[in-house]
Amino acid sequence: MILNPKSNLFEITLTAQKQSIYQWMQQCRLATLSLFQKVDQATFSCQAHPNFSPIGWHLGHIGYTEALWILEHLAGEFPQHLLPYRRLYAADGLPKAERRNLPSLEETLSLLDDVRSRVFQYLSICPLENQERLWRWLLQHESQHCETIAIVLELQKSNPSFNSSNSPAATSKLSPIEKHANSAEMIHIPAGSFQCGSNSINALDNEQPQHEIFLNSYWIDRYPVTQQQYRQFIEAEGYRIATYWHPEGWQWIAKCQIQQPRYWKNSLEYDHYPVCGISWYEADAYARFMGKRLPTEFEWEKAAAWNPTTQQQTNFNWQTAAVNSTQISSTTAKSPPQAPNDCYYMLGNCWEWTSSKFQPYIGFVAYPYKGYSQAYFDNQHYVLRGGSWATLHWTIRPTFRNWYYPQTQEIFSSFRCASDTQ
Ligand code: AVJ
Ligand code: FE
Repeated sequence: MILNPKSNLFEITLTAQKQSIYQWMQQCRLATLSLFQKVDQATFSCQAHPNFSPIGWHLGHIGYTEALWILEHLAGEFPQHLLPYRRLYAADGLPKAERRNLPSLEETLSLLDDVRSRVFQYLSICPLENQERLWRWLLQHESQHCETIAIVLELQKSNPSFNSSNSPAATSKLSPIEKHANSAEMIHIPAGSFQCGSNSINALDNEQPQHEIFLNSYWIDRYPVTQQQYRQFIEAEGYRIATYWHPEGWQWIAKCQIQQPRYWKNSLEYDHYPVCGISWYEADAYARFMGKRLPTEFEWEKAAAWNPTTQQQTNFNWQTAAVNSTQISSTTAKSPPQAPNDCYYMLGNCWEWTSSKFQPYIGFVAYPYKGYSQAYFDNQHYVLRGGSWATLHWTIRPTFRNWYYPQTQEIFSSFRCASDTQ
């Protein structure tokens, strides 16, 4: 299979639209494969954390999901010889603890290549105009699993039972807040309506439909919370004072003996870096300690995307505005993107927790299957916005909603605070 993005294989026969899909799929696949460059079989099938599958499972699941949606649902035939992989790689197949008996890296790569060459053959003849949403969904599916693979690799580095010479680096991959910045600064967002969500062909089911929301005026931090700021909370014995904590968070930190965020760097060198690997419970407690609160996901989105002058969603190339716009070009833009409301570092540095539970917008329609978003509208998951340095650019946009349980510390998460008054 050709994995050279410069390949002109389809240039003559594909429409411009198909060309784009073809190139994006190849670029995304290169990003996926680059994560496996130095991976041995032990790393491939290691379950670094009970809530996360081995990276080898994610790789196989990427290929299987492509076969399921493109070959089975669109082309109408799932290759018979791939049926034995079905139970292992289906999202609802095996519990995470049973996902360790995996085919070798080599076998998994040939599965991916096999699926991919059939998928590209089908792309050349498919009625893309009726299917584009699914192809774009699939691309974002692989992008998201890429980030999860990066998370699992990070967790393996900090797992003492696992042989690795690399020290955790999640925090050092972030862009630090500029040293001269007043990191305590807040931005005032005046009361008014804005258009929330997206009806774009790229928008996932949970971002739709776009709808108007009225918000009272509020203040929001210009920057994400830095290690230096968060250290004040640790040093003030914040982890021992119940009144700062959501009751369930208080129980959770006691039971799991949580004393700091997962990717905490105990070094002044990292003072200006956003805090990273933080749970919703810790973010919520810090906000209360500061006399502030977490922003709702709508306050976050309005601050990121709403242009108060034009009264429109900013027509912006968000992908290039992101702090670390893509891993593919391996460019790391150091300058903070300036959102219309002057909030900084909102996209592509670290995910930011919001106070909002993950819920459907009115008029929600599940796509492409109920298990994608709808299964998580259970009042147990909180929304994160913005994307991290490990997020590929296909899912970097201000309307994109990520979701996790409030005790999740393993992801590349941070937060900024909001307030009704300054
Ligand atoms: C939105 C990142 C929480 O990884 O569980 C991938 C994305 N859904 N395959 C996840 C997802 C199905 C999802 N997150
Ligand atoms: Fe998946």
